[in-house]
Amino acid sequence: TDTTAEVRHFIDVDDLSRDELFAVLDRAAAYKLAQQNGDDHADLAGQTLGMLFQKPSTRTRVSFETGMTQLGGHAIFLGADDIQLGRGEPLKDTSRTLSRYVDCVMARVFKHENMEVLAEYADVPIVNGLTDDAHPCQTLADLLTIREHFGGFDGVSGSEASGGSSDGRSDGVSVTWIGDGNNVAQSLVLGCAITGIDLTVVTPPEHAVDDAVVERAAELGEAPETTTDPLEAVAGANVVYTDVWVSMGQEDERDTRLRRFDGFQVNETLLEAADDPVVMHCLPAHRGEEITDDVIESDQSIVFEQAENRLHAQKALLATLVE
Ligand code: CP
Ligand code: NVA
Repeated sequence: TDTTAEVRHFIDVDDLSRDELFAVLDRAAAYKLAQQNGDDHADLAGQTLGMLFQKPSTRTRVSFETGMTQLGGHAIFLGADDIQLGRGEPLKDTSRTLSRYVDCVMARVFKHENMEVLAEYADVPIVNGLTDDAHPCQTLADLLTIREHFGGFDGVSGSEASGGSSDGRSDGVSVTWIGDGNNVAQSLVLGCAITGIDLTVVTPPEHAVDDAVVERAAELGEAPETTTDPLEAVAGANVVYTDVWVSMGQEDERDTRLRRFDGFQVNETLLEAADDPVVMHCLPAHRGEEITDDVIESDQSIVFEQAENRLHAQKALLATLVE
C-alpha cells in the first residue's frame, strides 16, 4: 500500500505548524509529569525506532533509546560503520530497507541533503537527530526549557525585564545566541520565529547563520536580529545561549575558528551586560573556550534541565509522528 503521502518527517522545526509545535510541547510537559508520577504512558507499545548515527552522541542516543523504552517501544542503535551503509550501500537503499522493519528512523548525519534523501525514500517518519545545518530536536527541548523557566514565551514573570524596553528588546522572553551560527543556532532561529521569542544572534561575520534561515524565519514570524558585537547583543537578554566553536566534522578549522571567536566567550564579565540571564548550552561544552567552567557550574546555568528535556520533548515528537 502507498502510505508515503501521509508520512510526516521532522527534518527541521518548521515541519511542525505553530499549533503542532505547541501541542508537542504540551505533550512533552505531560510526559514529564507522567514519568515523575510513575504513571503509565506506553503510547508506542510494540513500536520500534531505528537510530542511525554517522557522528558520535551522548544525549541524542540515550534520550531517544530511553524514550522509546518509556513509551513501551524499542530502539535499535545503528552506527553507520556497523551497518552496510559504512561499506557503501546507498542511503536510499538503507532508507527503504529500514522502512520495512521499523516504525520510525532517527538519524544523525553530516550533510543535510542526506537527511532529505532518507526522507525522500522512507515510508516511515524520519527524525533529524542533527546534521551539519540543523538540530531541530535540540530546539524542541530548548523551547520546553525556556517555557518552563519563564512560564511562557510572552513575558518574564517577576522580572523588571517585562515592560522595560530601554535596551530595545521586546516585552517577551529575550534570547541571545552567541558564538557560531551553527546547526543548533539555525534550528533555534526557526523555533524562536514560530513561538515569537525575541532572538538576537551574535557571531563573528564569517560564522553568521545562513541567509536562507533568516529569510525563512521572517516568513514564519520575526527574523532574528543579527550582529557581531557580543556586549551589545547580550544587553537585556533573559537567556544567553552558546555552543562549541568547533562542531563535529570541523576539527581541521580549529585554529582559524579559535582566532575568530576571540571575544565571544560566555564568562562572568560578559554576563554582567545582560539582565541576570539564565545560561543555556546544548552540550557537550568545551569549558575554557565558548564558556567558562564557573558559568556552567553557576546557579544561572540551566544546561542539565535542557539535557533532560531532550527526553520529554522527543517522546512527544515520536508519539505525534508515529501514533
Ligand atoms: N546536544 C546533543 O545533541 O548532544 P549529543 O551530541 O550528546 O547527542
Ligand atoms: N554544534 C555541535 C552540536 C553538538 C550537539 C556539533 O554539531 O558538533
